[in-house]
Amino acid sequence: MDGIFGGFEDLVVPRLEEHLGQTDLSFGGKLLPALKICEDGGESGCGGKVWIAGELLCEYVLEKSNDHLLSKTIHGKRPFKKVLELGSGTGLVGLCVGLLEKNKFHDNTKVYVTDIDKLVPLMERNIQLDKVQYEVLARELWWGEPLSADFSPQEGDLQTNNVDLVLAADCVYLEKAFPLLERTLLDLTNCISPPVILMAYKKRRKADKQFFNKIKKNFDVLEITDFIKFNYYLKQKTHLFQLVRKCSPRSGA
Ligand SMILES: C[S@@+](CC[C@H](N)C(=O)[O-])C[C@H]1O[C@@H](n2cnc3c(N)ncnc32)[C@H](O)[C@@H]1O
Repeated sequence: MDGIFGGFEDLVVPRLEEHLGQTDLSFGGKLLPALKICEDGGESGCGGKVWIAGELLCEYVLEKSNDHLLSKTIHGKRPFKKVLELGSGTGLVGLCVGLLEKNKFHDNTKVYVTDIDKLVPLMERNIQLDKVQYEVLARELWWGEPLSADFSPQEGDLQTNNVDLVLAADCVYLEKAFPLLERTLLDLTNCISPPVILMAYKKRRKADKQFFNKIKKNFDVLEITDFIKFNYYLKQKTHLFQLVRKCSPRSGA
């Protein structure tokens, strides 16, 4: 992978004492038992710690899920069965969904937490820590690479096995990864019934605008504002978007 994604050192941030070891996250008591996350302080790349956009996405999922995942939203008509998190890092958001599935929903939903190879052991460690081995699976998924059969949209009878919810938190931060992330989002939505995509994002640099300007050609980028902590996160320049594929080659639209 180094050939294609040379400069991996860009993804590595200095080891930070406050992001080492195990943390309990209950999100103000909304998630009990609390999520346990082990952070490695950046040893395995920037994903080795919990990022603010991941926290926002957990807060949103917790607020908007009653008897099913996101049941209090317009998407809540049917239970989501196959959830894919991109750039999961520690696995934070996917693990939050997995814990809810285990303790509350019982919808037989599978959650795939994915990232570059170096993060897979940390995600696996956190899956063990939270005892969600049945609900959550860790996989290597490099943006821009062809999707594996597990995640590639299928038509016809196999459609029921498609990913129906994509989650991404703090994945827009590195300019050279923008076209790769866009490619993966396009591949995941190249079907008649594309998955719901929720993307949480913290604005850090002006260059991030390039990513959103570029994807607007193929996606409607809709900001989600109807959640309790919206103003809290707005002050920290952290936003939540739904990306809706405008049309895809296979949709015939
Ligand atoms: C800023 S971290 C966010 C981690 C986590 N989502 C959170 O909110 O705590 C960005 C994540 O994207 C992953 N990433 C960066 N480039 C990637 C690529 N080309 N393919 C797959 N994952 C990538 C990093 O390894 C890292 O885990």
